[in-house]
Order: sequence, then C-alpha cells, then structure tokens
Amino acid sequence: MCGIVGYLGPMNPKDVIVAGLKKLEYRGYDSAGVAILHQGKTKRVRAEGKLKALEEKLQAEPFDGHLGIGHTRWATHGGPSERNAHPHQVRGISLVHNGIIENYADIREALLARGAEISSDTDSELVAHLLAEEVEKTGSLLKSVQNILDRIHGAFSIVAMWDQDPETMVAFKDGPPLVVGLGDNQTFVVSDVQACLQYTKKFIYLDDREVVHVHKNKVQVYSAKGEPLTKKVVEVDWSEEAVEKQGHAHFMLKEIYEQPRSVAAAMEPHLDIDKFKVRLKRVGFNQPLERLEGLDIEADWQNTQKVLKGVERIFMIACGTSNYAAMVGKYLLEKIAKVPVETDIASEFRYRDPVLPPNTLVMTISQSGETADTLAAIRLAKEKGALTLSLCNVRGSSIDREAHGHLYMNSGPEIGVASTKAFTSTLTVLNCFAAAFGQIKGTISPGEEKTYVQALLATPSQLEGVLAYDKYFSETAEVLKTYKGFLYMGRGVSFPIAMEGALKLKELAYLHAEGYAAGEMKHGPLALIDERMAIIMLVPEDGLYEKSMSNLEEARARGGKIIALGTGEDEKLRRVSAEYLPLPKALWTVNPILSVVPLQLMAYHLADNLGYDVDQPRNLAKSVTVE
Ligand code: G6P
Repeated sequence: MCGIVGYLGPMNPKDVIVAGLKKLEYRGYDSAGVAILHQGKTKRVRAEGKLKALEEKLQAEPFDGHLGIGHTRWATHGGPSERNAHPHQVRGISLVHNGIIENYADIREALLARGAEISSDTDSELVAHLLAEEVEKTGSLLKSVQNILDRIHGAFSIVAMWDQDPETMVAFKDGPPLVVGLGDNQTFVVSDVQACLQYTKKFIYLDDREVVHVHKNKVQVYSAKGEPLTKKVVEVDWSEEAVEKQGHAHFMLKEIYEQPRSVAAAMEPHLDIDKFKVRLKRVGFNQPLERLEGLDIEADWQNTQKVLKGVERIFMIACGTSNYAAMVGKYLLEKIAKVPVETDIASEFRYRDPVLPPNTLVMTISQSGETADTLAAIRLAKEKGALTLSLCNVRGSSIDREAHGHLYMNSGPEIGVASTKAFTSTLTVLNCFAAAFGQIKGTISPGEEKTYVQALLATPSQLEGVLAYDKYFSETAEVLKTYKGFLYMGRGVSFPIAMEGALKLKELAYLHAEGYAAGEMKHGPLALIDERMAIIMLVPEDGLYEKSMSNLEEARARGGKIIALGTGEDEKLRRVSAEYLPLPKALWTVNPILSVVPLQLMAYHLADNLGYDVDQPRNLAKSVTVE
C-alpha cells in the first residue's frame, strides 16, 4: 500500500522523487522519506505525517547526486513515526519497501543473534540488514539481492541503493507492483506509472520474483535464478494532465465530474452503435496480454462467443466498491443472460475452499488490478481449473496479467482514494457484458438488446444533469451532518447502490452509515429509526417501486427523515419525502449508474464540510496490496 519512487538520471533527484511521491500519496500517507546521493554518501530525510511535512524539511536541503529513492508509507509493521519511516539505512544500504515480510520474526531473531543493531519496529529495516551483510561479502548489490531473495517470504516490492555503487539501483518484488520507467538517459522504478508519466510513457512491468538491475541507465531484468530475461516494453497512453486536478478542489470531485466522459469511454469499445448491438472487444480469452492489442477484432469476438457459450455459472469476486459493482452485475447477468451468478468478497472467497463446478467463469473486478485478496482469488480460481476474466482499470496490472480474458474500465487514472468514476465505468462494462452474454445465450431478442444499448447510450448526457446535485449537497451538508446516523436503502439493483452510498459516507465523512436491502429493514434496522436518523431511500420507477414505497412508509412512520431518490416528477414520492431528489427516467439496467452519483456528491460535501481530507481519508489506501 506504500508508494515507491527510485530515480537514476541527470535531473535533480529530490524534485523528481517528491513530484513522484505526490502522485503516489493515495497509496499511503502516514510518513514519507527520501535517501539521495550527496557528495558520495546517501543523505536521508524523513518526516511523520503527510508528504507536506517532508517537503518542508527538504526545502533547505541541497543534494548534488543523480540517484535517490523515496517512499510514502501506509503503516503495517510499526506505527506511523519518523523512526519507522522509509528509507531504512544500514551501513551504506538504503532501501524502501512496500508490503509485509511474513518471516520477519525469524529474521529479526537471527540478526539480533549476529549482533545487529535494529533501530525501527519495521520488517523493512531487516531486509536492509540482510543486504548490508551480503554486500560486505559479495561487493555487489545485484548479487546480494539475488542471495537474499529466497530468505524473505511474504509480499514485497523493494528498491535498494548502496553508497559504494552510486551508479546502481536494484529492485525486486513478490506481490505488490513495481514498474520500471524508461526515459532518455534516465530510469525510474515506481509503484505506479503515474509517478513518472511526465517523463516517460515507456514501462516494464516486473513480475513476481524478478530482479531489475539499473546500472548507468542500462536496465536488465533477471529471474529469481539469476537468468537474464527479455521483457516487453509497454507504452502507456494515459496523459499527465489526466492525473492533475484541473481546477477542482479535490481529485474526487474532478473524478465525479468526469463520469459522463468516463462512462462513454467505458462503453465505446463494445458497442456497434449503428446496429444497436454489443460486441465485447479485445477480451482475448487465452491470448497472452501482450498480443491483445494486435487482436483481429472479428476473430476475437468469434472466440469470445464460443468461450462464453460454454459458461454455465459465474462467480464475481472483488473488494470494497468493486464488490458492490459485482453485486449489481449479478442482477444484470441473472436477469438478462439467465446465468446463475454468485458474488463474493475476495478475502472470503480465497479462504473458504470454494466449490467451482466445471464450466464456471470466475470474474474478478479491480480498479487497480493490484488488490492482494482479489489477486489471490483469481490465482485460486485458476488452480481449481476455472476460466477467469478480469475487469480492471489499470492495463498490465497483476490481476489483468493473471486472467485468461480481459475487460477494461477505460476510466483513466483514478486518484481519489474513494472510488467513483471507476465504479460507474464498471457498471457500464457489466451492462455491455450482460447484454453480450444474453445475445450469446439466446436469452434476449435483438429488440431487447437494442433497448439495453439505447439505455446505455443515453447515460452520459443524463449524468451531466445529475451532476447538478453538487450544488444541492454543498448547500445542505451543514444540516445533513447533524444527523446521528444514515440508513441507505434500496431493492434489486438499488440494493448494492445503497451499500455503496453508505460506504462512501463512512470512508469520507466518518459518519455512521448502513446500506440495507429495503425489504430487510423490519429484521433489525427499523429499531434504529427515530427523528435523528436520515433515511436515504432509492425508489426508482422499476418493477419494485410499490414494494420500496411500502418500506419508505414504514421508515416514515417511525419518524425518520426521508431523503428519496426517484424518477422524474414523481409527486407521490415527493409528498411522502422530506427531501425529494428526481433522477432522469432510465431503464433499470442503468439506474445504478445514475443514482450513485448524488450519493457520491453527498459523501464528498459532508466530508468537506466537516473539514476532512476527501482525497486521503484516514487509515485508508487506494490500492490495498497487502492482506
Ligand atoms: C480500497 C479502495 C476502494 C476500492 C477497494 C478495491 O479499499 O479504497 O476505493 O474500492 O480498495 O480496490 P480495487 O482496486 O481492487 O478495485
């Protein structure tokens, strides 16, 4: 969950590393530090708290070197403090680490027995000790890394440098991501391409247990056994502007506003607009990822149809917001394609020894493509012989690389820790997927397919209108924040949206919120309701309207303040609600894309009004690369 930047090249490493860490702060923000070569020695500066604290400390510090590493931390082993901040230094070795060393207790005991002086509570420092011992024997940083690789277990990505070899950095990983950016006469080793997009668009993605040796800008990747490897260089098409706030107060608000465009971008590759048909493009079942771009679309579609025709059930696995998207996917796929779908949280799926009968498709959803539990889940599914399909935002990410088939959110970079545009893009792709599946399975007629496609095509402009709730929630936040709790309720596809709305409020505004299936209310939450409880009811005009209205009345009778989201000028709903928020008339399949946006804006404004850091909520990280 931490962010790593390593740099070797002619620019000022301090500037490059700090700029890179700023882009990675979403990965962790409880302390930060750099180690940069200065007059033949590495000078280290670290600070507790957000990156700003480190920047202040660095202002007065001159550096004349060309090599350095930096880190922004999300604490796992050892609390957030300066002494636990990275880089860790031991006898000329400096190192930054993302992940967890599982056998740290054994390593620590052995090091202490050999007389090591350990100065932090982290597992990371222990690796620096191991490397320091090795370089003293081998005189080579590369050899030292290769020698210790088998001795450390767990999840890690590490970049190391050594005072005695100022032209070299060595990085290695097992689990969390590490990417090598190839610039003109300069090299970057980063956790995420966003950290150096302003300098290069060419990247090498390291696979697990690979070691990269960067020496005077010659980059060589080795296998764990020390064999040199030829790696594919990937060109990334994200622009640098896409990772800037572009005038918005926060990344989250910018990303909420991007949704009309990102939803359009998500559906665009899969729709034949003239014929109102869906074709899943570049799924590439069983194609190696690197061959995906060159796929013959027609041939791929033929193959995708063939593969999906044989699928009899689907498991959808994800974490957090992606899991709520998967739950919407269940409703879509079961109703449209009549295929049974089970959804599961990745951390549960991977440990419950799931039964995957033949002809099962396991679909994983992950914005980052790096969530540790989801990655483990897809690996388990493959071990059990299932066909796998990933839906990721980050191309070339670990989960994307692991899957047999590939779909993309196409959202562009998402920086706000709380996911917004990636969620609506996922719902959009799931709509395409469900319609395509229905077409393949013969469960929908061409007319029905056309209706689904038309509903999707209308959403970008409908979303433009829904964004007007920005003003509404900025004005009502002052009052809304005084409620003692928030109960979000919906039925059918609106049930996962209720849970997503509650999650947004919890993670951003730190207010107590619960998302519930409206029909379950009498089995508990009804007892919570009084006049200090806000009830956010999702009551779209769909087949469940009357049922939802009855649930609303039950809540109203107990004194709860009803904030209802409905369809158009619904006078009946308006009359029974304290606040009525109309949404555009839409098909049930796309209602979730529209109704989640006001809930995102509500959470954003309450958090902002309460003075919280919207883009970096406390204790959370965007990419959860540890269990
Ligand atoms: C973290 C983020 C969430 C995200 C979840 C799953 O908890 O804060 O916004 O939904 O991880 O992430 P993924 O990248 O797998 O979609």
